[in-house]
Amino acid sequence: MEIDRLVTGFDRALRTLSGQQAAQRPTPKAPATSQAAQAVADVMPESDKQHAGALMRVNHTGEVCAQALYDGQALTASDSVVTEHMRDAAAEETDHLAWCAERLEELDTRPSLLNPFFYAGSYLMGAAAGLAGDKVSLGFVEATEAQVCKHLDEHLAQLPESDVRSRAILEQMRADEARHGNEALAAGGEPFSAFTKRMMTLVAKVMTATSYRI
Ligand SMILES: [Fe+2]
Ligand SMILES: [Fe+2]
Repeated sequence: MEIDRLVTGFDRALRTLSGQQAAQRPTPKAPATSQAAQAVADVMPESDKQHAGALMRVNHTGEVCAQALYDGQALTASDSVVTEHMRDAAAEETDHLAWCAERLEELDTRPSLLNPFFYAGSYLMGAAAGLAGDKVSLGFVEATEAQVCKHLDEHLAQLPESDVRSRAILEQMRADEARHGNEALAAGGEPFSAFTKRMMTLVAKVMTATSYRI
């Protein structure tokens, strides 16, 4: 394992955790029909705003974990094609991270204080998956993205009606995550067992429950 991979990884960790990652794509906007609703979103009731802020904090933490998972896998993945796939997907995850961070600011709230811990845990999980080989690593991406899609569906249902800005972001993320999962399978990922997926759901529950509040 080359030292420059480690240095790049450390640099990316700092940038992720300090909110310095910039998006390459513009922030998704609500469709024109929702423009009026968008104006309303700027004066959301305080309770809606707090709930939406907490939901977006969870999603922001999810994207911090995505950075760590992809970087961890890229660190240990043996096949350069897989490494490249990870880097491409990670670039889109960086957009998600930056969009969520921007929305958190608009909702007058902050990222989760637990992000460094989630980053470290996810990085180790990613690195372990990478060591297990490309099929497992890509299967892990598919299983994770399936999990994230389910989670985003729940959040889209829970998001206050008035928050069309967050909705537009989550819908674009949902589309990207589904594609990441499909691409990982197409690249040779081995589907995970139902049991492993259930275990992953439990881990995700801990993350979502804590980062909603802390
Ligand atoms: Fe993402
Ligand atoms: Fe993704």
